[in-house]
Amino acid sequence: MACRVASIVVVAVFLLVQAVAEEPKPCCWISQMYGACMVQEDKELEDGTIVVEDTLAEFAYDKTFSAKAFIFTETFENGTQLIARIVELSDLGIAYFIQDNQGQTKCSKKRIPARFKPNCVPEAARFWSNATLGDHALNGNIWERNKFEDGLLTNTTYLMAADYCVPLSVNHVVYNLNPSPPEVDLVTYDYADVRLGICDRDKFFHIPEECSQSQDAMTPFMEKKLKQRQMMEMPFRLDTLM
Ligand SMILES: *[C@@H]1O[C@H](CO)[C@@H](O)[C@H](O)[C@H]1NC(C)=O
Ligand SMILES: *[C@@H]1O[C@H](CO)[C@@H](O)[C@H](O)[C@H]1NC(C)=O
Ligand SMILES: *[C@@H]1O[C@H](CO)[C@@H](O)[C@H](O)[C@H]1NC(C)=O
Repeated sequence: MACRVASIVVVAVFLLVQAVAEEPKPCCWISQMYGACMVQEDKELEDGTIVVEDTLAEFAYDKTFSAKAFIFTETFENGTQLIARIVELSDLGIAYFIQDNQGQTKCSKKRIPARFKPNCVPEAARFWSNATLGDHALNGNIWERNKFEDGLLTNTTYLMAADYCVPLSVNHVVYNLNPSPPEVDLVTYDYADVRLGICDRDKFFHIPEECSQSQDAMTPFMEKKLKQRQMMEMPFRLDTLM
């Protein structure tokens, strides 16, 4: 598949189109794509301050070859740059955790289920509306999934590019009604620079030699990135995770 531009950078303002015609069905991501995803999550610190935590990653999604990859880059104040790459090869049932510290590579690996988990708008999501985005009039579909269980009220809204089932943005709000007063968690996902196909496979899926030698243990940095990776596509895995 050619690598062509599937969507434009996230647009803040969009025009809602009246719902009249037939409703599209919740879709699963097109087989191969790569791009960038930013996750913003509100967090409460111990002293009660609310902060917003940003996570940015490049991702490659390859249903054809049952593989996913995530690249996290973090630059510290002293100029040190750490890169963590997570490569999941479902056919082999192996995930690699590759950390690059200015050319110094560490690798560890773990078993994962030998079954590729596709990313989909959940079956239970209800079509809400169509939208056009930006002045290029990109067509989008909006879905909503609402769920109430064990005192948790979850509202998830999906904005997807209509033609290829490419994600544009997701809002995920969880109200925990158990404590008094109730607690609210908000996570937003924005996707940018998404291209169809995967042009530079090596960048995402190359397994360095270090991985075939004795395996290093997971570093704290990698553990942290693994948690972020789990967060990264959570709204598209609601059917298979929960
Ligand atoms: C929304 O867009 C889809 C194509 O993405 C189209 O099939 C459907 O008819 C549209 N629905 C409405 C209500 O405009
Ligand atoms: C730079 O900061 C990071 C994170 O605080 C630390 O892990 C690393 O050792 C520091 N590097 C140098 C060269 O001081
Ligand atoms: C969230 O979900 C609840 C329960 O289904 C629903 O009543 C409510 O309207 C939803 N809120 C939003 C903002 O979609």
